Amino acid sequence: MFNFEYYAPTRIVFGRKAEARTGQLLKELGVSRVLIHYGGGSAVRSGLLDRVAASLDEAGLVHTALGGVVPNPRLSKVREGAKLAREFGAELILAVGGGSVIDSAKAIGYAVAEPDHDVWEIYDRKRTPKACLPVACVLTIAAAGSEMSNSSVITNENTGEKRGYRNNLCRLKLAIMNPELTTSLPSYQTAAGCTDILMHTLERYFTQGGNMELTDQIAEGLMRTVIKNALILRDDPANYDARAEVMWASSLSHNDLTGLGADGMDFVSHGMEHELGGMFDVTHGAGLSAVWPAWARYVYQNCLPRFVKFARNVMQVEGASDEDTALKGIAALEDFFHSIHMPVTLKELGVEPTEEQILAMAASCARGAGGKKGTAKLLYEADMAEIYRLAR
Ligand code: NZQ
Ligand code: ZN
Repeated sequence: MFNFEYYAPTRIVFGRKAEARTGQLLKELGVSRVLIHYGGGSAVRSGLLDRVAASLDEAGLVHTALGGVVPNPRLSKVREGAKLAREFGAELILAVGGGSVIDSAKAIGYAVAEPDHDVWEIYDRKRTPKACLPVACVLTIAAAGSEMSNSSVITNENTGEKRGYRNNLCRLKLAIMNPELTTSLPSYQTAAGCTDILMHTLERYFTQGGNMELTDQIAEGLMRTVIKNALILRDDPANYDARAEVMWASSLSHNDLTGLGADGMDFVSHGMEHELGGMFDVTHGAGLSAVWPAWARYVYQNCLPRFVKFARNVMQVEGASDEDTALKGIAALEDFFHSIHMPVTLKELGVEPTEEQILAMAASCARGAGGKKGTAKLLYEADMAEIYRLAR
C-alpha cells in the first residue's frame, strides 16, 4: 500500500426530512448571512427552496438567493454570484441542487474570498487560491459527489473550456442529504448519476500496483451496490432504500476513500468527457459511459491484473484466459450501461465529432493535464485522439 493522506471534513446529515434542519445546522456553523444558490428550477417547482428558506428564517438567518445554474455550470454565473455575495455580505454559500450548483457555489467561494483576483485563473492553473468562503449544500441528485469532494468543475463559455480544479479549501462544511429529494429526478438523470458514481471509483481502481486489499474490497462493494441499485431504480424510481444506497455511494465514491493506497488516479475518461462537455454540452455521466469502453479496450493490456480482478469481483464474469476475462468484464459493464439506457459510443450519445474536433479535444485534454494523464496507462494527446476515434 502506498502512503496516503485522507481528509474528509464534511459533516453529513443524512435521511428523511433532513433539509428541515438546514437553518439550525447552518447556525451551528456560526454564520448569519447566507447566499442560497440553485439551478434551473427543479428546487423551486418541488417546493424545496421555500422549505429551506423557511428553515433559515426560523433559525434567524438572513438570506438572499441566486438561481439559474445550468448543468456544466458557467463562469458568467459564478461572476454574477460572487458580485451578489459580496454586495450582500454573505458568510456562506448554500447550494440547493446537484454537482453543478455545488461546483458553482465553490467557485463563488473562491471568487469572494480573493476579490482582487480573477477566479478563472484558478481553473486555468495560473494561480493557486489561498481561501474559499464556506460552502454547504442540500443535495438533490446522487451523482457528482461534489458534496464531499475537493473538486469543482466550471465551464468558460467564452472559450468552450470545461476545467476541474481540486483543492481542500473548497470542501463543504455541511452536506444535508435526504434521498427522498431525488425521487423527482428524470430517469435519465438518475442513470447518468449512477454512471458517474461508478466511474469515480473505477477511475481510482485501475492502478499499477500496491497491495490495497481493504480499499479494493470497499471499491468493489461500492460498485456492486451501485449496479444493483441502479437496476432497482430503473424499474422502481420511488424505492427509498435504493435511493439512499446510491446517494451515500455518491459521496463515498468521490471523497477519496475508494482509492486510498493506490498510486494515483487515472481519470482519463473524466478528462476526455470534460472536453465533450465543453464542446457539446453533454450530460456528464452519459459522456463518461460513451468514452469508457473505448478507453478500457485501449489500455487493458497495460493493466491486465486489475481488469481481471474487476471482471471477477465486480461484474462476476470469467473467460477462458486472463485476456478473455478482462474483455468479458468490459463487455459486461457495457451491457449494464445499456440496461440503464446509457450510451456506450459517441454516436449513441448523440455526438458525431469531426476529425478536426477530435484533434481539438485531444489537444485541450492533454494541455489541461500538463501533457499526459493516466495510471492504467500513461496517455498522451495522440492516444486521446485515438480513443475518441474508437469511441465513435
Ligand atoms: O437545474 P435543475 O432544474 O435543478 O435540474 C437539474 C439538472 O437539469 C436536475 N435535477 C437535480 N436535482 C433534481 C433535478 N431534477 C428533478 N429533481 C431533482 N431532485 O438534474 C440535472 C443535472 O443536475 P447537475 O447538478 O448538473 O447534476 P450532477 O450532480 O450530475 O452534476 C454534474 C456536474 O458536476 C461535474 C460535472 O462535470 C458536471 O458539470 N462534476 C463535478 C465533480 C466534483 N465537483 O467533484 C466531479 C464529477 O466528476 C463531475 O465532473
Ligand atoms: Zn464524474
